[in-house]
Amino acid sequence: MLTIHTERLLLRPFVGDDADFVFDVYSRWEVQRYIGAVPRVMASLSEAFDHIRAWHDLDDGVHGVWAVTEADSGKLLGSILLKFIPASGSDLTVCPSGDTEIGWHFHPDAWGKGCASEAASAVLKHAYSQDLGRVVAVTNPLNLASQRVCERIGMTHEGVTEDYYNARCELFVGTAA
Ligand SMILES: CC(C)(COP(=O)(O)OP(=O)(O)OC[C@H]1O[C@@H](n2cnc3c(N)ncnc32)[C@H](O)[C@@H]1OP(=O)(O)O)[C@@H](O)C(=O)NCCC(=O)NCCS
Repeated sequence: MLTIHTERLLLRPFVGDDADFVFDVYSRWEVQRYIGAVPRVMASLSEAFDHIRAWHDLDDGVHGVWAVTEADSGKLLGSILLKFIPASGSDLTVCPSGDTEIGWHFHPDAWGKGCASEAASAVLKHAYSQDLGRVVAVTNPLNLASQRVCERIGMTHEGVTEDYYNARCELFVGTAA
């Protein structure tokens, strides 16, 4: 997986030592409340290890899940995901459309500083550089902060969709110039 540098941030693969942080983020309702058709919080540290293993499996040199850290201190801030998006249907592990989604999950202590937008913008650029001509993002209609991140990184709002995750979402699309 490519390490990505931005002005303030370093994006790198997750490692096992990050499990406490992953659990701290994903066990919070304020982080999880808008995610998935039926939001749920992470219940145990072992789930955090499972997530990190699953994220490694997504790494194909283009797609993956990056740990977002402060470049200076190495402090963990959140994650950026670039992965095939599950189409609505009975099996949410299948992606017949082949669409790739970008997503972001940050620790509340890191919110409001523009870090999500800075990291997401860099990963979107990486996607375009790897010949992904179209990247989607879907958000819960109530998730205005996430919609703003989509806008800030240049994605276009295309209205409501029920095509993914068995959920009604706002759809944003980014296209390589
Ligand atoms: C979505 C999330 C990553 C945004 O993080 P962030 O640190 O606030 O992001 P940024 O600082 O880069 O930008 C957020 C933008 O949204 C705006 N914003 C934040 N909260 C908002 C709200 N409740 N309503 C409207 N706009 C809001 C900010 O003002 C900022 O826009 P601006 O710079 O034009 O003022 C963060 O809220 C999060 O991790 N949420 C939980 C996980 C989640 O919902 N992920 C998305 C799933 S689709």
